[in-house]
Amino acid sequence: MAFESSLRIKYKSILGSRQTMSESSQINRRAFLGKSAAVIAGGVVLPHTALSYGNIVGANDRISLGHIGIGSRGDDLDLIASKLKSSHHAEMTAVCDLWKVNREKGMATNTGYYGRAPRAVQYLEELLAMKDVDGVLISTPEHSHSPILKMAVEAGKDVYVEKPMGNVLSEVRAARDAVLNSKSIVQVGTQHRSEPYPQAAQKIARSGALGDVSKVEVVWNYHGPRWRGRPQVKQIREQDTDWGKWLMTKPARPFDPQMYFEFRLYKEFSSGIPDQWISHGIDLVHWFMDDNFPKSVVSHGGVFAWHDGRENADTFQTLMEYPKGFLVSYSTSFGNDAPSFTRYMGKKATLINHGGEGSPRYQLVEEKGTHEDDADIDKKRESKYVMLPGQTELPPLGIDDLSLEHMGNWLECMRSRQQPHATVHAGFAHSVACMMAAQSYWSGKKVYWDAANEMIVDSAPASSMG
Ligand SMILES: NC(=O)c1ccc[n+]([C@@H]2O[C@H](COP(=O)([O-])OP(=O)(O)OC[C@H]3O[C@@H](n4cnc5c(N)ncnc54)[C@H](O)[C@@H]3O)[C@@H](O)[C@H]2O)c1
Repeated sequence: MAFESSLRIKYKSILGSRQTMSESSQINRRAFLGKSAAVIAGGVVLPHTALSYGNIVGANDRISLGHIGIGSRGDDLDLIASKLKSSHHAEMTAVCDLWKVNREKGMATNTGYYGRAPRAVQYLEELLAMKDVDGVLISTPEHSHSPILKMAVEAGKDVYVEKPMGNVLSEVRAARDAVLNSKSIVQVGTQHRSEPYPQAAQKIARSGALGDVSKVEVVWNYHGPRWRGRPQVKQIREQDTDWGKWLMTKPARPFDPQMYFEFRLYKEFSSGIPDQWISHGIDLVHWFMDDNFPKSVVSHGGVFAWHDGRENADTFQTLMEYPKGFLVSYSTSFGNDAPSFTRYMGKKATLINHGGEGSPRYQLVEEKGTHEDDADIDKKRESKYVMLPGQTELPPLGIDDLSLEHMGNWLECMRSRQQPHATVHAGFAHSVACMMAAQSYWSGKKVYWDAANEMIVDSAPASSMG
């Protein structure tokens, strides 16, 4: 539904009549506004490739869901799923968490949502063995996403898996291959692909309205010791969980409640800024630019703002070159909250996303003249915000992580057996970009993507040499 409505997108000019324009600039303005509006009016329907037709949930059947990992994001996903229970005829019938406290919380919350208690199990193998469970939500920490995704599709389940899809290349590849060898419908949790404003902006980026794009800049900031200070660190007791199972593929070590809940700060489990934020940011860039794997990546950064024992950087910058011929610059600071933005910089126009991750406020700005010739050129550039039909107010500069469309799209695809908006191909690609960013940071070297062998390598592969 959201996808359809985005095809009817229209623009609102913010210029009004306050500018005096020469006749030629009026013509240019009309041409500029008209061209991109026509592109939108024409619309495009992205092809869906049905990979499988098995396992079809009947139109009237209730979709039975199971949920693995019900922590902070798990609460969000339970709320989102509950809001779709009538429209999409779905119910959370089983919950699984290693930690007793979150397992019991998941059971109580879902009992409240559905009026009856889901089954509650500690181990995911028990949930995956439940024959009546059609689809599984995975919101464990990122080091276990790919291994659990693989197990879930091998158990015949459809899956909604949180981002990043994974952070160990061999594991992400194995999970992707398992999905492609299955009939499962898998949605990766980069939810902005299903939201109406990014969908509208993506169509502009793909329309040619920007001209040749040579640079994309993403700057997402926050002021604070992000990912430190989880209250559960003081609450959890080793006997109430299974630390060995939490570690999943990692070597054994003594129980560490900070690692358990503040995993984003420890490099063996998460790359931090890449896994958490670049996964969202680069997924949008891949989708807007229709270019999916960086050719090469170089990163830098460090712990400059919060000396609290964290291993992962709190200040991080990466540069990624893409095969179509553009550079992506991604930058995050946790020591200063200067305004966040994303800019797609083309020879005809700049597409600006004001705000940080998920912001629905997009603006298209004409590219003409230079600051060198005219210090006031910014005022003379035509611009317009991307607006949805019927919308009169500008959308906010940010949104929460609770939009319903992405989960709704997955549930719809579970019935139709069409591919959802964020496939494993998209998940694999954002994971590769994040792993390259992290590998370059830790090695201090530029890294390259060997597309033929799907490997991250330390010199340009022969196939990529011009
Ligand atoms: N899409 C988004 O906008 C968004 C937002 C926030 C978080 N996330 C993602 O969600 C993931 C989870 O983050 P969080 O903050 O909820 O973590 P969390 O630590 O609060 O919750 C994880 C839960 O998983 C459980 N768990 C871990 N391993 C398990 C296993 N093998 N079997 C069963 N249960 C297991 C833990 O006991 C815990 O309750 C992260 O990877 C993050 O990237 C996505």
